[in-house]
Formats: sequence, C-alpha cells, structure tokens
Amino acid sequence: MEAFLLDEYFLYFIMNLRRKMNKPKCCQKMPYVQKGKKKKYAWCSCGESSNQPFCDGSHKGTSFTPIVIDNEKEGNIAWCGCKETSNAPYCDGTHSKL
Ligand code: FES
Repeated sequence: MEAFLLDEYFLYFIMNLRRKMNKPKCCQKMPYVQKGKKKKYAWCSCGESSNQPFCDGSHKGTSFTPIVIDNEKEGNIAWCGCKETSNAPYCDGTHSKL
C-alpha cells in the first residue's frame, strides 16, 4: 500500500515537472490587446506570471525565459495569452484551435 502511494506521488511529481519544463500554462484563450508604447517589453512565455502578459520572474525553475522586444511604434499590440503562438510574443490565432 505504501509503495503504491509512493509510486503515485512520484508519478505526480514527474508529470508536474514535465509540465513545468515543457508546456506553458495557458492564461487565457484570447490575446491581451493593449496600446503599446515605444519601450522594451518582456512577454511572459511560461504563463506563470501574475502580471500577464508580462514577465514577473515566475519562470525561475522552469525551462522558459521571457521574450524581450523593443517596441518601436505606438499602437495596439495583441499579446498572446494562450502561450501557444508560433509568432511569440504576438497572437497568431492559434488560441482559436485550443
Ligand atoms: S492568444 Fe495565443 S495565439 Fe492568440
């Protein structure tokens, strides 16, 4: 019985670790559309930040790093919220297939 619980705990641990190492957390299945300014932004790629769509350092301990862009023009930016885009940090419509 104890061995079973240990195995189950170990499996849970490994699955959680794999999630943290490989798969970002989906924050929302739509983009964050915001008016961008001429400045640098660090987009959260792990989905763990509490300051979405931007990095707050929560990626520490995961395999993810933020994507930093130097935005050069003002205007609306559609930041990916699902973290599955192929055009990070911008929405490419992938969220509609999730
Ligand atoms: S919000 Fe991620 S692709 Fe649109």
